[in-house]
Amino acid sequence: TETINDPNVVGFESSDSGNDSDSEPEPPQKEKPELPPKAEPEKKEPQNDTKPKEIKEPQNDTKPKDPEPKPVKKKPEAKPAVYVDVIRDEEIQKARLKLPILAEEQQIMEVINENPVVIIAGETGSGKTTQVPQFLYEGGYALKKQIAVTEPRRVAAIAMSKRVGEEMNLNSREVSYLIRFEGNVTEDTKIKFMTDGVLLKEVQNDFLLSQYSVVILDEAHERSVYTDILIGLLSRIVPLRKKRGDPLKLIIMSATLRIEDFTMNQRLFKTPPPVLKVDSRQFPVTVHFNKRTDEDYLSESFNKTVKIHTKLPDGGILVFLTGQQEVNSLVKKLRAKFPLKAKPIKDDTEEEEEAGPKLRKQKKVYAPKVDLDDYKPDWSSDSEEETEERPVHNAAPLWVLPLYSMLPTHKQNEVFKPPPAGCRLCVVSTNVAETSLTIPNVKYVVDCGRSKVKLYDKVTGVSSYVVTWTSKASADQRAGRAGRTGPGHCYRLYSSAVFNDTFQMFSIPEIQQKPVDDLYLQMKCMSIDKVVNFPFPTAPDLLQLKTAERRLEVLGALTKGQVTALGRAIAKFPVLPRFGKMLALSHQQDLLPYTVCLVAALSVQEVLLERPINEGDDKGERLKWAGLRRQWAGSGNSLLLGDNMVLLRAVGAAEYANTQNKLEKFCFDNGLRHKALVEIRKLRLQLTNEIKANMPEAELVVDPQLAPPTDLQAKLLRQILLSGMGDQIAKKIGEEEAEDRVKFKYGYHANNMEEPVFLHSGSVLRKTLPEFVVYQEIYETNKIYMRGVTAIEPEWLPVYVPDLCNLSEPLSDPEPRYNRANGKVYCTVTGTFGSQGWSLPNVEIE
Ligand code: CDP
Ligand code: MG
Repeated sequence: TETINDPNVVGFESSDSGNDSDSEPEPPQKEKPELPPKAEPEKKEPQNDTKPKEIKEPQNDTKPKDPEPKPVKKKPEAKPAVYVDVIRDEEIQKARLKLPILAEEQQIMEVINENPVVIIAGETGSGKTTQVPQFLYEGGYALKKQIAVTEPRRVAAIAMSKRVGEEMNLNSREVSYLIRFEGNVTEDTKIKFMTDGVLLKEVQNDFLLSQYSVVILDEAHERSVYTDILIGLLSRIVPLRKKRGDPLKLIIMSATLRIEDFTMNQRLFKTPPPVLKVDSRQFPVTVHFNKRTDEDYLSESFNKTVKIHTKLPDGGILVFLTGQQEVNSLVKKLRAKFPLKAKPIKDDTEEEEEAGPKLRKQKKVYAPKVDLDDYKPDWSSDSEEETEERPVHNAAPLWVLPLYSMLPTHKQNEVFKPPPAGCRLCVVSTNVAETSLTIPNVKYVVDCGRSKVKLYDKVTGVSSYVVTWTSKASADQRAGRAGRTGPGHCYRLYSSAVFNDTFQMFSIPEIQQKPVDDLYLQMKCMSIDKVVNFPFPTAPDLLQLKTAERRLEVLGALTKGQVTALGRAIAKFPVLPRFGKMLALSHQQDLLPYTVCLVAALSVQEVLLERPINEGDDKGERLKWAGLRRQWAGSGNSLLLGDNMVLLRAVGAAEYANTQNKLEKFCFDNGLRHKALVEIRKLRLQLTNEIKANMPEAELVVDPQLAPPTDLQAKLLRQILLSGMGDQIAKKIGEEEAEDRVKFKYGYHANNMEEPVFLHSGSVLRKTLPEFVVYQEIYETNKIYMRGVTAIEPEWLPVYVPDLCNLSEPLSDPEPRYNRANGKVYCTVTGTFGSQGWSLPNVEIE
């Protein structure tokens, strides 16, 4: 059955698929490769019965030295059975040849051809993401089906599809990407980069993933929840596809050698898959620890960067901090210290948007072109607040760029471009630069040693962002970024004692750190009955699974472990189950356009900014925003809809601003995050299309600008929010209860928490202080706050959250009432809500 050496056979015949395929009704694989219907004629020759041109004789390939005209053909050393031509530019090919992974192409392809599951481990930058999909393409894997590559981060999915397309001289119709809100996939797509979440949704619609010949799960070491689940699912899909005679390859790629969770897990793969270790051309990196560990790592990182820039030879600097605010703050300080000769640009709106209101006043912009002769330290440009950072004389200009995931994409791309002539590049980044993106020419890494993680309380679901030490593995990844182009240095802003004694070996997989409700429901919908028995690489703990199950029951998506019809309707939407339920219910209430808008807004993080993006705090600006938000909230039921009313209005107004081409300015002026609003637009569109496809009877009419809801609609929206978030109710702390009235003025009891929670000063309900509220999220900073608050009426609780209510027997009502009109009997009963037993007013039930 060994057929891979036969040049007429498509290379993705798995050697162990045997002859099963002959008996299968499906088209057997042992066909001559066919030309994909829409292939571009100038790049690919048709493959007919005659020996196709793409299939090279090995001998031809052993003469790499032939002086060939541009563009150059590659592939000197590999001798694959099938070989689809790719014509690459000379420059690109030169750069590729420097990657050691290229020398291993033949071996990699052999192992892939012979094994259904393969693990490829290699340092970041070794060429896994950009090269392996190309190897597979050339090996014929994209002739009939697509090559899927998943990334945990959207940024990476987009950037990598672009890069691979460029390297292969293929356009985005063929090397495409798909992320939650957008994509450029076409019927000609051969290589499809996508986020892992998107592939998981695809499994739901087609469990066998039959459109793919290979699935590459990239960055598996990051242990994102979706990648983990996909590994579990694919461990079952691969044998199923083999049974069908239509084998699927699974390639798991990791930047670390911590792969025991995949190889040593008998439930996952009975025989451990082969592991290919890819060398990287990693130069030695000298690691320097600080003698002592300073809490103020922000100042430390500034000092270190200044030292490197003024004292050490050329080479880019990459600084790792924990979050966007820190990044912006350091960028600003460094730019002030090492100003480029200012050359005001006329159209400087973008720079302003990023810099925030403070920089807006000073009309100084860093021009991308710097004439070194012109360069003189510009003392006068020092602004008021930067007095202590005096520009230095003896350093070249520093080209300082921020990098974090919320940064608009075109700004993120700046870091890949070479700095202006004569400048040293300095990128200040969160941990997005740790593995998925490679910034060229970095020689110095400054590592604060911390990262910001969102922690959830497994039971209460309270989330908080905490800055914690990273793991040893992450610290080493960060250090490695300095050794890509030559020997480098890594400056760790902490002591070796802290590193040795306090750092964990590896970070905890995400699946053990966050609520798994949506996964649980999706798995149930895939008929995985016992989620507990699912072959997770690392299983979430039992309590997490139980909590998820319970919450889904409260939502009405599950009963007795079985998915309900409502549950299936919910799972169809690409949003959290609680939001899915809101959509499913609104259908009946004719409120769909509003709910779609709300759900889209609730699914995107940080829409309403709490303070100007830029470092520092502008109180005037905040007061202005607060006033505006109160105005948007209106009165009556609108006001009771609270922060969610503000969201609705913000989205509507943003749509209007967008028609005037003023979205960015509008967001800037009104304290809205521009990127969030752009995302909301896309999600609204996607949800709308989904609803049109899934529930044509809903006859959804879309008016992007959306008139404010009527009073009745606002009331119904409050109920709909309750139906989705009924487990997140809070009750005002009574005056008689609070010893300290001032302290607890905005205090509430949440139904599942001991500690009091508070209405944030940004909430429009601070003036109203309703008795009962539903909130979107609880988060902890200096206090525990509720986010996204809407007032509800307690008598709604038994209707929308019956599972959490304890009602007395109807018999307790001595005088039941008979309603002639509908023939039903109504009783008044008493009851309580939640585990704390809040008593409900008299409730009328059927
Ligand atoms: O996936 P892995 O981390 O193993 O490496 P990769 O992302 O495939 O990158 C391989 C090499 O391509 C890196 O060393 C980068 O220098 C280069 N590259 C580039 O020059 N420009 C890009 N946009 C992406 C990668
Ligand atoms: Mg990669």
